[in-house]
Amino acid sequence: MIEASDSPVHAARDTAEPLPAAPAAAVPDPLLDAGAIARARNLYFPTGQSPRMTVVRRLLEQVAPFNTNVLITGESGTGKEWAARYVHALSPRHQRPFVPVNCGAIPADLLESELFGHEKGAFTGAIATRIGRFEAAEGGTLFLDEIGDMSLPMQVKLLRVLQERVYERVGSNRSRSCDVRIIAATHRDLEEAIRGGKFREDLFYRLNVFPIELPPLRERKEDLTELAMNILERCRSSGQQAVTLTGGALRILRCYDWPGNIRELANLMERLCVLYPGQPVDIPNLPSRYTANAPLRETDREIVTRRSAAGPQPQDFELPTEGIPLKAYIENIEIALIRRALVDTDGVVAHAAQRLQVQRTTLAEKMKRYGIQAGEGSQGPSAA
Ligand SMILES: Nc1ncnc2c1ncn2[C@@H]1O[C@H](COP(=O)(O)OP(=O)(O)OP(=O)(O)O)[C@@H](O)[C@H]1O
Ligand SMILES: [Mg+2]
Repeated sequence: MIEASDSPVHAARDTAEPLPAAPAAAVPDPLLDAGAIARARNLYFPTGQSPRMTVVRRLLEQVAPFNTNVLITGESGTGKEWAARYVHALSPRHQRPFVPVNCGAIPADLLESELFGHEKGAFTGAIATRIGRFEAAEGGTLFLDEIGDMSLPMQVKLLRVLQERVYERVGSNRSRSCDVRIIAATHRDLEEAIRGGKFREDLFYRLNVFPIELPPLRERKEDLTELAMNILERCRSSGQQAVTLTGGALRILRCYDWPGNIRELANLMERLCVLYPGQPVDIPNLPSRYTANAPLRETDREIVTRRSAAGPQPQDFELPTEGIPLKAYIENIEIALIRRALVDTDGVVAHAAQRLQVQRTTLAEKMKRYGIQAGEGSQGPSAA
């Protein structure tokens, strides 16, 4: 966080004077725009030639040059922050900061000081004066992510800033003016939240000046290939050895519904690049969740069935960067399989042992070691 004393420009803007008028809508400068568009296209271009994405992109480009508040809605992972960054990069504010705030991730009692800053000693723990995100975004864009998660008292405070363009740091009664463009985003249905008394209607209308809804990936599957290629290109330019997806793999990925949207696609591409650096990725290399419900051709089905008989494959696991305790992890898998076999065989140990293709005595030993009772979780007898 930048200290107020580091920021003479911001300090000079502090004022208790009559409020300045809200900044007029910027007139787009064609020369500046040519460079800005090229930069934004490279970085945050909202990929896709589908009719829905074409409309979204046109709306983002139309609103970018103005100071209009934008409300971006869409499911998780549909690219809301990317869209906001695209608008900022195409706007005359692009040389000033783009400051994201995740309103859902910051505890309600800290959000006020996070947004507006605080004076030294304003509350326990406020050991120094700090500027808030509004001040950090001065002249630029403030991205209020997950706005639907903001508490009602905080919504009142935000509404005042949007209406009057002034705020006070926590612990100060000195008003500060601000020139910040607001882009808000949420995966929630704000009109539903208004009906449920969780979101203020007046704030909604202030934010919803220019609404843009990002479509889920399952509704624009024709964009999947281009998106995957872009993501792999990004992996390549960050020094990774990217995979090449075969036509078959792309066909199967297009059959999947992508509940996690572009974020899930990006995660999968990254995972495949780690597992198969510089190699082609075909249907059998895809994690089973992507092939499970896909209409596989007979030859593909045989390969996938052979693979599942061979047990889990590297691509079926998420390995966190901090690693996992291998021994405990394997034991947990063993415990889960034993419990599953016992449930499926109504707690008959001999039958469960058959299912797991081990001796009954071996299974009994393992159950003793792990403290598993034969009858637990099943309705049947606990016969051994
Ligand atoms: N147009 C795009 N081209 C390539 N990758 C993209 C694009 N848009 C988004 N992504 C990728 O998808 C990920 C998710 O995007 P973003 O964080 O903008 O989504 P979101 O809607 O804000 O998600 P959440 O609701 O989970 O916060 C990004 O990290 C980025 O890697
Ligand atoms: Mg987001």
